Amino acid sequence: MFTPSERILSLKPSGIRSFFALSAGVEGVISLGIGQPNIPTPAKLIEFAAQELKNQNNYYSLNPGTPLLRAKIAEEYNRRFNFDFTSSNVLIGSGACEILFDIFHTFLNPGDEALLPDPTFLVYERQINLAGGKAVFMPSNSDFTIDIEQTKELITSKTKTILLNFPSNPTGAMMTRSELKAIADLAIDHNLIVISDEVYEYTCYDGREHVCVSTLGIEDRTLIVNSFSKSFCVPGWRIGYAVGPEELINPVNTFHSFVTANATTPLQDALASFMGSPEAISFTDSLQSTLQERKDVIVAGLNSLENVHCPPVQGSFYAFADFSSFFGKPMSTSEIATKIFEETKVVLIPGDEFGSAGEGYLRASFGSASVDELKDVISRLKSLQE
Ligand SMILES: Cc1ncc(COP(=O)(O)O)c(C=O)c1O
Repeated sequence: MFTPSERILSLKPSGIRSFFALSAGVEGVISLGIGQPNIPTPAKLIEFAAQELKNQNNYYSLNPGTPLLRAKIAEEYNRRFNFDFTSSNVLIGSGACEILFDIFHTFLNPGDEALLPDPTFLVYERQINLAGGKAVFMPSNSDFTIDIEQTKELITSKTKTILLNFPSNPTGAMMTRSELKAIADLAIDHNLIVISDEVYEYTCYDGREHVCVSTLGIEDRTLIVNSFSKSFCVPGWRIGYAVGPEELINPVNTFHSFVTANATTPLQDALASFMGSPEAISFTDSLQSTLQERKDVIVAGLNSLENVHCPPVQGSFYAFADFSSFFGKPMSTSEIATKIFEETKVVLIPGDEFGSAGEGYLRASFGSASVDELKDVISRLKSLQE
């Protein structure tokens, strides 16, 4: 009787949810489905949050965020990357998801084209469509870096934004500084706004260094999108942010002020107290080494399976492996994931959920499982090949 808008009816549903529904309540399931770390939130951060609540810091904050957190974020970026940012360059929102939603709505007119990687975090495409824009997928090289030559061919007079996400969800790929510099030059040549989602900046492996895209001489056209969800293990707190020139931050804040008005006030100030503290530094260091160990186990384990190839995981906490020949007969990606679940109770996400380049691949989130569980996953998968 009540029909949702065309906007909702035309939205592509997420297949990931149906995998969660399939596995809910089933005994013995090991889920490598969910993209969040199963590592406890740092105790000191929880103490700071409790203190803020007790201190009655429970009221609206200014739209772009609390002065303390905005200043702290600017300070951290200046210290780490030698920028000259102030609080005015920072906008806090309810998770990176809200910030991204705000950015697409702020800059895309109907029909404007937004470039994004393939495969990629599936929220981007839906948000671009909700904003009236057209998502244009950039082809990948075999290591899941962006194919720059082919991307050049896709740029039209309607191309407005280019989105980067390295380390990547779902592939674990990273791009080198010189590879990213070529994309930065492309953005300058075609006057594109660069949106760089860097939520996995603290989980880079085997000595690799994260490259902050704004350091490539494109600080005046780049919005860095970031979040505390993954770095401090607080995905439920919903605090994310953007850092960039005021010319880009201010209009996004105008949109944001009519969406959520402000992100949760006490949690913003708790994060401001925690960020940059010795506890925060040792937490992100140990998060990185815990995930490095898990990464080594899952990547080696997947590559030890017959007819499975897992490319190197350089960052984030996802392994993205080619399972197209796993059962030795033609099957769709979703059929492969379903059969694996039915026979082993292991949840892996079909890679084509993240874009057509993910066809035949399955994503394994090792953020959400212990080393022992990851070893168990590999022996369950091996049992299918005996
Ligand atoms: C690439 C990427 N960006 C953003 C997010 C969401 O971050 P937040 O929890 O801050 O909304 C995720 C979550 O999985 C992600 O993988």
